[in-house]
Amino acid sequence: MIERSTIQSIVSGECQDENVTVYGWIRTARMGKNVAFASINDGSSSSILQIVFNRDRFSDDELSGLSTGACIKVSGKLIDSPGAEQSREVNAEHLEVIGPVEDDYPLQKKRHSIEFLRTIPHLRPRTNTFGAVLRMSHHLSLAIHRFFDENGFFYIHAPFITTSDAEGAGEAFQVTSMPLDSINFKDGEVDYSKDYFKKKVFLTVSAQLEAEPLALAIGKVYTFGPTFRADPSDTRFHTAEFWMIEPEMVFFDLDDDIALIERFIKNIAGNLQERCPDEIAFLTQFYEIGLKNRYRMLIESDFSRITYTDAMDLLKRNAGLFDKSPEWGMNIFAEYEKFLTEEYFKSPVFVTDYPVEIMPFYMRLNDGGKTVACTDLLFPEVGEIVGGSQREERLGVLLKRAQKSGIDMDDYSWYFDLRKWGSAPHSGFGLGFERLLMYLTGIENIRDVIPFPRSKGKMT
Ligand code: 4AD
Ligand code: MG
Repeated sequence: MIERSTIQSIVSGECQDENVTVYGWIRTARMGKNVAFASINDGSSSSILQIVFNRDRFSDDELSGLSTGACIKVSGKLIDSPGAEQSREVNAEHLEVIGPVEDDYPLQKKRHSIEFLRTIPHLRPRTNTFGAVLRMSHHLSLAIHRFFDENGFFYIHAPFITTSDAEGAGEAFQVTSMPLDSINFKDGEVDYSKDYFKKKVFLTVSAQLEAEPLALAIGKVYTFGPTFRADPSDTRFHTAEFWMIEPEMVFFDLDDDIALIERFIKNIAGNLQERCPDEIAFLTQFYEIGLKNRYRMLIESDFSRITYTDAMDLLKRNAGLFDKSPEWGMNIFAEYEKFLTEEYFKSPVFVTDYPVEIMPFYMRLNDGGKTVACTDLLFPEVGEIVGGSQREERLGVLLKRAQKSGIDMDDYSWYFDLRKWGSAPHSGFGLGFERLLMYLTGIENIRDVIPFPRSKGKMT
């Protein structure tokens, strides 16, 4: 067994031992005339522990291993520090360099650019920035599970391999066991009878369709898992592999859905703020000066709400501000999102009731037949965080919309069955975990909140 005290337990005062053994990676090392110093971090928190080596006790040869990046084990006395930067430090009695570094260790500078760090995903977790992001990612995940548990939801797993491209956007990655360089063709078409599932299948783009039958049985469920999209957009908000939280609730209409989204986000943001004060302070100092205000806004103020039609009227009245002229029927482009959240409402805003033509077939048709009962929640700075809707529970209406959308009706027969046998109103939403994490960390590129990001043309 390896006995050790974590730096977190020492700095927080939880560890009251006089003699401690600590392990960590050297951030900086300095040779003085009589003493040498090494500051180490072990990832248990953002804190650094200073180790003091008396040069009478350690030979120059032993101390020569104290280089930035090296992993060391130190035993010694925990003492009050005379320095202003820390309250306690370790007076070393034994030193073991357990993981020496070669000269070309890339993390030499105090601060590296975030773009450079992106090129070394295996090492960037050792920086303060990524340490903070990773710890916050953990606390955010747990806050999400806690919220649902406390609110009567059941956590379920949906399949990753599926036949449906739920969003109908044609962005699904195909999955096959056939080697792509020796695909079998029959009459000019791919012969799927030779493939593992004997049909065309994909990685999931959303767990929603599979969550629906479960909500129609056990009431309130949620998934929290990876989704995969060959998204053509290559922006700082898009990745090919991201995690989505998808709750699905029976006997919920769109208003219930929206109320839940707001309560959910307020709750988890509050939780994160409570658990991660050091990380938030660090990220406020180095990345986003307004980070604390973001939490205040999310937790304390009401989110705004506007219908798509009213939003378009508003955008049209301000058409001069945009590159693309807004017209009813268009998507809400990034520049419109920016105007709505940052200029006009200055808050997160729910845009509801989009035109039926631009939304997936499963969203409930509103009276009048022009719009559907859906919402996108737009945030300042990061844009769309949530997409949700009331689902079409009326068999006849659903079949018509599905047919028109051009999906393969046979693949979805089970989905239609739900409307034949005991249909019920239900709603749900999907929240992009990494986009929320971007907002709550102040990190501007989604690839910097994911340990090993995958995006268009880039596997790192
Ligand atoms: O709006 P979307 O496409 O909604 C759905 O998939 C619904 N089936 C969800 C549901 O109702 N259960 O995606 C939901 C959210 C977006 O609002 C965004 O936050 C995130 O997923 N998202 C992405 N995040 C990172 N990279 C991408 N390429 C993303 N595409 C969507
Ligand atoms: Mg969407």
